[in-house]
Amino acid sequence: MRALCWHGKGDVRVDTVPDPKIEHPRDAVIKITACAICGSDLHLLDGYQPTMESGDILGHENMGEVVELGTEVTNLKVGDRVVVPFTISCGQCWFCQKGLFSCCDRTNPNAKIAAKSMGQSPAGLFGFSHMLGGYSGGQAEYLPMADIGPIKIPESVKDEQALFLSDIFPTGYMAAENAQIKNDDTVAVWGCGPVGQFAIRSALMMGAGRVIAIDEVPERLAMAEAGGAETVDFSKFDVYDELMKRTNNRGPDSCIDAVGCEASGHGAADAIVDKVKAATFLATDRIHVLRQAIMSCRKGGTVSIPGVYVGMADKVPLGALMNKGLTIKTGQTHVQAYTKPLLQKIVEGKIDPSFVVTHPASLEDAPAMYKKFRDKDDGVIKVVLRPAL
Ligand SMILES: NC(=O)c1ccc[n+]([C@@H]2O[C@H](COP(=O)([O-])OP(=O)(O)OC[C@H]3O[C@@H](n4cnc5c(N)ncnc54)[C@H](O)[C@@H]3O)[C@@H](O)[C@H]2O)c1
Ligand SMILES: [Zn+2]
Ligand SMILES: [Zn+2]
Repeated sequence: MRALCWHGKGDVRVDTVPDPKIEHPRDAVIKITACAICGSDLHLLDGYQPTMESGDILGHENMGEVVELGTEVTNLKVGDRVVVPFTISCGQCWFCQKGLFSCCDRTNPNAKIAAKSMGQSPAGLFGFSHMLGGYSGGQAEYLPMADIGPIKIPESVKDEQALFLSDIFPTGYMAAENAQIKNDDTVAVWGCGPVGQFAIRSALMMGAGRVIAIDEVPERLAMAEAGGAETVDFSKFDVYDELMKRTNNRGPDSCIDAVGCEASGHGAADAIVDKVKAATFLATDRIHVLRQAIMSCRKGGTVSIPGVYVGMADKVPLGALMNKGLTIKTGQTHVQAYTKPLLQKIVEGKIDPSFVVTHPASLEDAPAMYKKFRDKDDGVIKVVLRPAL
């Protein structure tokens, strides 16, 4: 089959690789009809995520048709059209039983490596490094090991509407839930990429009075406004000053960091230090946005972090966090906990996730699309790849 493979920092290519096989009785083989490139894939492209190996297949936002099933898979039939969560979860362990699917204790065969850097290992993830399981991803024609979590999609729901149940719609939704929004709250969202876009719309669905969205890319700010947010262009305004001005000097009730470890800083001193440290391997993450969110959040408020961080961060304003009594909530998304209720919202017409797609493309175009998405060229916000095109 053809698959998008990682070959090192800045180097992804479509290669011919062996077809997947059923390896475990709970596996399924799925013929991918659509898959997407995510901001998390950019952390791999840019070499931030440790334990990637040349030839690894990327892709964790996937949907397709079931073509083969292991003997123990009872919830699916060959021919079913399914969306696959990016989190691989057993459904049975202590964590899965509590709905903490991204913390599954059983699906990372390389748990020892992950535990060394994090204390304990989270779940295995599709297409996301050896330390997180070494699973092949789905920017390929087939997706192996899809044993739990895929949900069947009704005919009435199109691929572009269903696909994002695999990650970014649940991720934006869980980010808004983690923000602990109460009626009429003001919520600030850093990052108007796909995750930020779903966080904005989810916050409003949960009753936020105002959402203030922060980015510098004009078409992303425009999409945030179309979704009901006010915006701040961080290349033109001081974000902290602007947030304080717009909230009577109190600060937003909740702050969502939908940017993660590659935040740009526009000359801010802390961001320059982060960049130098990341470039010289003295620190792994650039946490300018997280610092700004903690400093801006109102006393007693909540900081929700869907943005991905990978390692050790420098100069976290712990004093502000503690003295202002803030709550921090974060995590890889417990995707399986959200797929069915959010599919229901799509079926009922409460949201049409296809609004975020700007660039449909073929799998063979994936390397060029990765670069466009990274560089935010050509108005790209979300790329959907179709192996059949
Ligand atoms: N928690 C999860 O399970 C999960 C799932 C999917 C994605 N993610 C993470 O969410 C983050 C966002 O993903 P995405 O697909 O939207 O990525 P993206 O790269 O398309 O979007 C990030 C946005 O942040 C903006 N940005 C950069 N610096 C900023 C700053 N200082 N202030 C405000 N905005 C700034 C960029 O201009 C860009 O529009 C990534 O870190 C990704 O890894 C997490
Ligand atoms: Zn993703
Ligand atoms: Zn489990």
